[in-house]
Amino acid sequence: MGAVKGLVLSGGKGTRLRPITHTGAKQLVPIANKPVLFYALEALVEAGVTEIGIVVGDTAEEIREAVGDGSRFGARVEYIPQSAPLGLAHAVQTAKPYLGGSDFVMYLGDNFIPGGISQVVRQFQEKRPDSLILLKAMPHPERFGVAELEGERVVRLTEKPEVPRSDLVLVGVYLFQPSILEAVDAIEPSPRGELEITDAIQWEIDHGRSVLPHVVAGRWIDTGKMDDLLECNRVVLDMLPERREGRASEDCRLLGKVILEEGSQVIGSTIRGPAIVGAHTRVVDSYVGPFTALYHHVVLEGSEIEHSIVLENTCIRGVSKIEDSLIGRDVVVEKSGTRPLAHKLMLGDHSRVSLA
Ligand code: TTP
Repeated sequence: MGAVKGLVLSGGKGTRLRPITHTGAKQLVPIANKPVLFYALEALVEAGVTEIGIVVGDTAEEIREAVGDGSRFGARVEYIPQSAPLGLAHAVQTAKPYLGGSDFVMYLGDNFIPGGISQVVRQFQEKRPDSLILLKAMPHPERFGVAELEGERVVRLTEKPEVPRSDLVLVGVYLFQPSILEAVDAIEPSPRGELEITDAIQWEIDHGRSVLPHVVAGRWIDTGKMDDLLECNRVVLDMLPERREGRASEDCRLLGKVILEEGSQVIGSTIRGPAIVGAHTRVVDSYVGPFTALYHHVVLEGSEIEHSIVLENTCIRGVSKIEDSLIGRDVVVEKSGTRPLAHKLMLGDHSRVSLA
């Protein structure tokens, strides 16, 4: 038995996270100031999976630049361009030459599992089913792919069923033997025009192959939407240890767990953790509330912000109070100070603004 390879899916359309995905890869949106994709790569390496192929689409360049050859993660990373986001099973088809007959873990690059995947990789190697799928009991299973079990086995998968027959939904991590390649070639595109991995696994069930479940005990977060990204940020900030690599002036109040990354400066401000201030970010005369992550080279002046993620090089001046927000790169949000007191906006396509 050869080593299990990793296949990380980082293409896709990212429609649910527009406008952020108009200009960047959703897999690189930082969670507690680290791209969500990096947590996936770390989880794979921790589970002993170090040969990793990353499926990339329009944002290939940006992902290559961020991950490189993978040596920083202790992995050997190769890139697999997908011609168009035609579905998860299409991504597997595209990766066939890379996979070369190996067993593999498919990991959706925008998914987050705080407990890691070491245990499930071990389970797969011991039991050697054709497929092993991760499941999680969720409220509103009808929004996901739903699995039905009979004893130890998965007997049916249904994508977004009107009436779900269980509350176990498919989590974005799958373990496959090479036999899945036959299934992805056998299926037809779904009504939404994608080759669905659920259809490929159902094909395996229908052809008498063994498909086993692994119910995830801890959390699972699909960060493809803003609310889930903010939740993921909350979960990770809660887990991180405190670090103080930046500087805070004496008149600051840093309460609870506050992480100051290298070269950050906090002046005349209150920060109530858990919160993280990124490298070379300046917080002046401001309030930063719990569950906030300011990425690198952000300027926050005379403002208040809480439960939000702010991406790099963004500048926020004189604004109270920002909450539950995801703010992109190189954005300026400021109080205009001139009459009339009006909202003056220049927003990209698909932006969302909620004014007080
Ligand atoms: P999804 O989030 O299901 O799809 P999407 O990225 O197109 O987003 P949206 O629904 O908001 O339009 O994809 C899960 C992961 O798999 C994500 O990291 C993108 C990746 N992916 C591919 O690499 N290739 C594909 O063909 C598809 C559909 C997704």
